[in-house]
Amino acid sequence: MKKINQFFLCFLFSAGAFAQSDINKTSISIIPQPVSVTEKAGSFKLPENISVYANDANALKQSVDVFSEKITTATGKKITLSKSDGKSTVKFVLNSSNEAQLGNEGYKISVNNNQITVSANTPQGVFYGVQTLFQLFPAEIEGKEIAKNITWEIPNIEITDYPKLAWRGLMFDVSRHFFTKDEVKKYIDNMVRYKYNILHWHLTDDEGWRIEIKGLPKLTEIGAWNVKRTGNFGNFIPTTPDEPRNYGGYYTQEDIKEIVQYAKERFVNIMPEIDVPGHSLAAIASYPELSCTADAVNYKVRSGEQIMDWSHGAPPLALVDNSLCPASEKVYAFLDTVITQVAALFPFEYIHMGGDEAAHNFWEKDEKIKQLMKQEGLKTIPQVQAYFEKRVEQIVVSKGKKFMGWDEILEGGVTPSASVMSWRGMKHGIKASNEKHNVVMSPTDFAYFDYMQGDEATEPKIYASLRLNKVYQFEPVPAEANANYILGGQANLWTEQVYNFRQVEYMTWPRGFAMSESLWSPSAKKNWNNFISRTEDHFKRLELAEIKYSPAMYDPIITVKSNANKELIVTLTPEIEGLDLYYSFDNSGPDNFYPKYTAELTVPKDANMLRVITYKGKKVMGRMISIPVIDLAKRVK
Ligand code: ACM
Repeated sequence: MKKINQFFLCFLFSAGAFAQSDINKTSISIIPQPVSVTEKAGSFKLPENISVYANDANALKQSVDVFSEKITTATGKKITLSKSDGKSTVKFVLNSSNEAQLGNEGYKISVNNNQITVSANTPQGVFYGVQTLFQLFPAEIEGKEIAKNITWEIPNIEITDYPKLAWRGLMFDVSRHFFTKDEVKKYIDNMVRYKYNILHWHLTDDEGWRIEIKGLPKLTEIGAWNVKRTGNFGNFIPTTPDEPRNYGGYYTQEDIKEIVQYAKERFVNIMPEIDVPGHSLAAIASYPELSCTADAVNYKVRSGEQIMDWSHGAPPLALVDNSLCPASEKVYAFLDTVITQVAALFPFEYIHMGGDEAAHNFWEKDEKIKQLMKQEGLKTIPQVQAYFEKRVEQIVVSKGKKFMGWDEILEGGVTPSASVMSWRGMKHGIKASNEKHNVVMSPTDFAYFDYMQGDEATEPKIYASLRLNKVYQFEPVPAEANANYILGGQANLWTEQVYNFRQVEYMTWPRGFAMSESLWSPSAKKNWNNFISRTEDHFKRLELAEIKYSPAMYDPIITVKSNANKELIVTLTPEIEGLDLYYSFDNSGPDNFYPKYTAELTVPKDANMLRVITYKGKKVMGRMISIPVIDLAKRVK
């Protein structure tokens, strides 16, 4: 009996091992993780001549086009459109009767030896099915040219998938640094791979007004331009009158229409943001009468010099009065003109009107504000802002749109119909949802993609960090919230320290993978180790697609303390499993023959540099991190 058991166990073990390596061979790596995936025996191989059938060619045009383009580019195979489904190799189906489970964005994929079928209730669902389908093919499907020696094979499979949340957004700040029309389109292309459906477009701020408004030409003649500076944004020395103000740009209304249409064809809604009353220096430099402060006639669009003093906490002290004047009727007339045109350009139901970080210090001293407070019975500066927000909401609503603002709009009283974007943690979103405001969760703790994702020695320096693992833990609908009012969530890419589009991509991926999974996939399907393995597969896809990503997940988390002897003690913690760390203090570059990190390190007396490198087995991963010992010392809390 014992013998038989041992034999049986041994068999089970080897069968398990076989199954494992078999899985690795076909390795399904879908991000975001679908609701249900069932792999079947056998596989489908793309024939030389591929026929594509869509049961509603008009409605499914985007899916057919996107599929055909990618397949021809990467495989060189011929695609013909078929009029009947009988012999087609790929079939796109708009369901004739609604499958309730799939909703508006879900889809099904069914692959057998002879045919691929993608079906959904809506064209958007089929489009998402196509995105998943690409991820079933070898990574080379992402290539920009025909890949050689690839077997274009996918496993027979059944997938049923639909999103957890309807609002799956990324915010792109094009004010701090301007990004061209083509770059915005590219950002949209990248988003849709991971089933994002909202682009929150931050179009105005202190550093640039980026949207043409007819009748207000100075917004783009003056407000769209500043002085080109580079380095550590926020601490630049003040500009001088002889420096040319020719850095920046804006989108004409024709550009905006083109981008909105481009996004629409990819099932992305664009929510424009006009950030007022704070963050408005570009508008004020253009039209100084929008400010309460007489000196505004001397103001210039910010080029990255210090503008706020945060040393006293929130709200910050403004060093120049970068807020619109809530006591001026000219401001509401200005906003009416702006919002009328914004409402006409953007079909999406929401307009975001900012509301964040408006400073109090100039308003507190201003006679017109004091007069307004008396006239309107306002007791506090937050009530002054609330008065402003209500007036702005009335304008937005009068144009047939819904009003959204950052969570500061909750201070000083807010109308019941206002929608809230919770950024200073989840607490404001939780409270707002319980008060029946629609809420989008985008808290700094999980969703700020401008924060550093790796060690500060490798990243443009900013005051906070957000590692991949933390984004993956994001749960946009916490138990304490009223789930009926949480529209969804989004990540925000502020671009103060982001000077070019490659860095935009670096900051977005792979944290954008983690965010997409937090917003789309059932919580029960999330698994960190499995996510990392899929992320590695998608790194290869991004490389082939020439999209930059951050390898920071391979970099250790480095913490430093000092002991009783005043020695520096360094701890290296890998973010993901299965990595080995090697280090040096002798200024040379370590490899896998150097000392391996096993326990905290005491920095040797005369050392002046720590270098760390990460390996998986014999393969170097990520990048060498070098930190001068004087910088390590500064990290001691
Ligand atoms: C924000 O980050 N100021 C909304």
